[in-house]
Amino acid sequence: MQKSINTFLKHPSKDLTNRSANPPVTRASTILFDTMQELYLHEHKVKTHKKISHYSYGRYGSTTTIELENILKKLENAYHVFLTGTGFGGIALALMSLCRPGDEIVVSDNVYGPTKEISQKLLKEFNIIAKFYDPNNFDDLKQKISKKTKMILVENPGSNTFEFQDLSKIIKLAKSKNIFTLLDNTWGTPLFLKPLNIGFDMSFSSATKYFSGHSDAMGGSLAVNKKVFKKIMFFYKLSGYRMSADEAYLIIRGLRTLDTRLKQHYENTKKVINFLRKQNKIKEILYPYKPSSKNYKLWKKYYSGATGLFSIVVKSKKKSSVINFVNSLELFGIGYSWGGFESLAILQELKGNHKDEYIQGRKFYRFKKDEHIVRLHIGLEDPRDLILDLKKNLKKIK
Ligand SMILES: Cc1ncc(COP(=O)(O)O)c(C=O)c1O
Repeated sequence: MQKSINTFLKHPSKDLTNRSANPPVTRASTILFDTMQELYLHEHKVKTHKKISHYSYGRYGSTTTIELENILKKLENAYHVFLTGTGFGGIALALMSLCRPGDEIVVSDNVYGPTKEISQKLLKEFNIIAKFYDPNNFDDLKQKISKKTKMILVENPGSNTFEFQDLSKIIKLAKSKNIFTLLDNTWGTPLFLKPLNIGFDMSFSSATKYFSGHSDAMGGSLAVNKKVFKKIMFFYKLSGYRMSADEAYLIIRGLRTLDTRLKQHYENTKKVINFLRKQNKIKEILYPYKPSSKNYKLWKKYYSGATGLFSIVVKSKKKSSVINFVNSLELFGIGYSWGGFESLAILQELKGNHKDEYIQGRKFYRFKKDEHIVRLHIGLEDPRDLILDLKKNLKKIK
């Protein structure tokens, strides 16, 4: 029977031996074989990408991580899915597997801060140069491509500023020059966009966010096509990257309700945005909700849904009053990450004098000095309560 993906997510990974609707958490370093011949045969199967139900050593994963790989393979329409202990591990895995000294990579300027840092700072130490392009200007991307370009790394929409790009144009360009492509698809999830289907070589998601959905697990998923599989497998096995069985179990549990949770995040977000768009202290809402906008059109072109993360641009000469607004919110936690059941708020500083991790900040930044970006994650609370909380505390912005 042909099943919808929402039905599929409810049914995989049953443990029929123990009559459980969920898989066992298999914690294992040593994996036992009956004979040496069986062990040799198994290793050959792994090498030649045959279907397996366990690995030959715990460093590569366990039966629980294989269950998660199989679910994500289906969700992403992937040749293989590599699991890592954090989301960021998945980005590092792709870069370290495919880039070598002398190569260049072209990266959208609006990527997640640490993605920028590894591209700009760490890769440079290996003589790999990162060039950052303006996500609102395809010609800028084109100009940054050279004979040395090995990979185009895109995050869509971009972190904190949420620009959407015309993805098929990027794919066409990359394919014509034989350049690898990676999309950070954490915001949209493979439920709303399948990057491999539109031609990306790699689809990355931080499983810490919506996949797990409960703010209690970390993980990364790098779904790949056949073209890049061998090179990434080579580095994966030698780097020691992996996901633990316990985290894999929690992420499988989260995935069962991914569709239902995302529907509710979206419904709540629409209600909150409908309130925010009428507030005069808010200059702009960085979310695809205005049908006349470029970002809406690009979102609609590629995505079948939207999630609960966006930013508001607040105009204020008193930054301390914007901080006061964030601090005063009762139902919005202050903290990193997102994609869990709860609402969050954080003031994002993207430009300029960062002494710490973001180095030079954004190169292509269109906001003025008195415009502040507050990122909100709309959780699964009653949106009427969230709106009351925002209404009460927006007054604090001077
Ligand atoms: C867009 C995006 N990509 C990657 C990551 C890294 O994921 P993790 O925190 O699981 O390492 C994050 C984390 O916030 C993110 O927002």
